[in-house]
Amino acid sequence: MIETNDLVKEYTASGSEPVQALRGVSLSIKAGEIYALLGPNGAGKTTLISILTTLLPPTHGQARVAGYDVATQTAEVRRRLGVTFQEIVVDADLTGRQVLDFHGRLYGLDKRTRTDRISTLAELVELKEVLDRKAGTYSGGMKRRLELARGLLSAPQVLFLDEPTQGLDPQNRASIWRHIRRLRDEEGITLLMTTHSMEEAEALADRVGIIDQGRLLVEGAPSALIQGMGADMITLSGTGDVELVENRLQSLPAVTHIVHHPAEEAVRFQIGVDSGERRLAEIIGVVLASGFHVQQVSVHRPTLGDVFLAYTGDQLRDE
Ligand SMILES: Nc1ncnc2c1ncn2[C@@H]1O[C@H](COP(=O)(O)OP(=O)(O)OP(=O)(O)O)[C@@H](O)[C@H]1O
Ligand SMILES: [Mg+2]
Repeated sequence: MIETNDLVKEYTASGSEPVQALRGVSLSIKAGEIYALLGPNGAGKTTLISILTTLLPPTHGQARVAGYDVATQTAEVRRRLGVTFQEIVVDADLTGRQVLDFHGRLYGLDKRTRTDRISTLAELVELKEVLDRKAGTYSGGMKRRLELARGLLSAPQVLFLDEPTQGLDPQNRASIWRHIRRLRDEEGITLLMTTHSMEEAEALADRVGIIDQGRLLVEGAPSALIQGMGADMITLSGTGDVELVENRLQSLPAVTHIVHHPAEEAVRFQIGVDSGERRLAEIIGVVLASGFHVQQVSVHRPTLGDVFLAYTGDQLRDE
């Protein structure tokens, strides 16, 4: 349903250095799949969504949505997609109903279809009671849900959600998540969403792609990515001969995975092991014997946050 091949986007503005926002992204998303792009600020998520929704032309590479090329078959692509943007722009003076009705007219829906869909969607996103209030009086969560309803008005096959729950409280996030799941389960819609939140990606996504600095670093089912880290994770930070520690730990049969990243003044190791409880003493013994000064140690079950940290060196927002 969504396919990109070596997608490159370079922003060029006069008087400033060009920015490589996407550096060759290839991905393939099946019909009915929920795919979450997880990445830090500036990773290229919104840029990718903008290209797939035909708002920006790619610099190189191809992208197809529902089989149509986003650069040459824009009308065909637009007819099949819905999108909600990261920055919400609702006209504060229009009521929720007017916002939706206007959008329906843009899509050429007749009056009857507009009325029917608006009433169904208002129920779906729980805005029925406030639909005739001005959108300017809506809370952040209500505005997001109005955006979601707007994205769905054209009955799209593919929905792009850029940070659908940014800035929402836990109740509102949970309610958006419920709607997203329902869309997939009941309407069979294909969903590409972006998020900074590992919790959101874990809650919703069939597959996650981790993107950083314009590159797709790894993708897979959240559970598979997490399992790849090892049964347990020992996180250890401190100072000393990093290479020596890494080499010695790597040679232990219990160690399934090891990476290190700078962490403030020190270095942080993520050590995947078959059993944290059984191996902790052995691991610390090896590290100390290498003359490494240990500042902090923890043992936990790996999370998507560990996967993210292992690939990007960054902590996720909700950790
Ligand atoms: N119109 C533009 N002109 C120049 N550079 C841009 C433009 N839009 C985005 N960029 C740059 O491209 C890179 C990717 O930006 P993008 O908005 O796609 O990231 P993002 O992953 O959506 O980030 P965030 O999580 O903060 O929303 C960033 O370095 C950004 O500064
Ligand atoms: Mg963005």
